[in-house]
Amino acid sequence: DDHDHHDGNADHELRVSKIQDGTVIDHVRGGQALNVLAILGIDGGEGEEVSVGMNVPSDRLARKDIVKVEGRELSQDEVDVLSLIAPDASINIVRDYDVVEKHRVERPAVVEGVLSCPNADCITTDGEPVTSRFEVLQDGVRCSYCGTIVREGIAELIDTN
Ligand code: CTP
Ligand code: ZN
Repeated sequence: DDHDHHDGNADHELRVSKIQDGTVIDHVRGGQALNVLAILGIDGGEGEEVSVGMNVPSDRLARKDIVKVEGRELSQDEVDVLSLIAPDASINIVRDYDVVEKHRVERPAVVEGVLSCPNADCITTDGEPVTSRFEVLQDGVRCSYCGTIVREGIAELIDTN
């Protein structure tokens, strides 16, 4: 099966404590946890209670990251954008210590206002009040305004302002 623990060893393998209420983003591709936090706009400055496990052993992925956010249930928009960097993630909504909802992320057809175009001549980056818009491809994203395709390093385009 695709569980991350083996029978009887679950206690030994729990790296970060359970949360009471909030969201667990599980099965994040190894090394992407900090990008997940960037997408969610979490930098610790607001006093958010967040736990991160990085490069934890997993059956489904060779290594996975896991992010637990206390006191916050992610919106569908936030989950959609997460899918760009964490396509295998599962989102677990936790209430009073129980997982009450579990869903896999799904790639949206387009993302608006989330990524900034790397093309300095693009209308979205030269000071005009135009909201960025990217079509989501199999293996990357494409700017709807200038056609620039980005396959690697999508997380670096995330507009953190
Ligand atoms: N979790 C948590 N706090 C809780 C409940 C669950 O941090 N109060 C975490 C678990 O540690 C796990 C994830 O949320 O990483 C999903 O929990 P659960 O569905 O119970 O685990 P699995 O069945 O192993 O999940 P999956 O089948 O998605 O691998
Ligand atoms: Zn562009």
